[in-house]
Amino acid sequence: ILDGLGGRSIVLVGLMGAGKTSVGKRIATRLQLPFVDADAEIEKAAQATIPEIFAKHGEAYFRDGERRVIRRLLDGRSKVLATGGGAFMSPETQAAIAAGGVSIWLRADLDVLMARVRKRSNRPLLMNEDPEGTMRRLMDERYPVYAKADIHIISRDVAHEVVADEAVKALA
Ligand code: S3P
Repeated sequence: ILDGLGGRSIVLVGLMGAGKTSVGKRIATRLQLPFVDADAEIEKAAQATIPEIFAKHGEAYFRDGERRVIRRLLDGRSKVLATGGGAFMSPETQAAIAAGGVSIWLRADLDVLMARVRKRSNRPLLMNEDPEGTMRRLMDERYPVYAKADIHIISRDVAHEVVADEAVKALA
């Protein structure tokens, strides 16, 4: 796999709660590649948390930073890159990923996503009266777009190791 990558990165896309960070870290360990989380890089660059960035500057500002950070991270040095759930919706980011990476869509069902996001309250898009309704809407909007990813993996309610294993096999 490593030789075949030729400087390209493995880029995880999918909804909040799909396991992009957890599974991505395990893929990176297996392939002995660095792991980078785009959301964490955005927070570092802005010196603020994602909820703070949304509250202070709005979503459009966040999306701008997200596009820039991901473009910068696809720098010709292979890594495993976890992106935020909205990143792949940007045609510009999609093009950058197509040029500099192999994309993996971690696809999960609503109940799996909701069980995972309930544990953490750091997602501004879900801080409303009806997070499940929001998640359904995002699935409708985004799944047709995520489907353009090179590799599709079902993120089931099993150990992240198992999903990572399937992803590594699909990359081979
Ligand atoms: C978002 C997903 C989040 C984060 C931001 C917006 C989205 O990342 O980028 O809250 O639009 O789906 P995760 O998918 O890692 O939770």
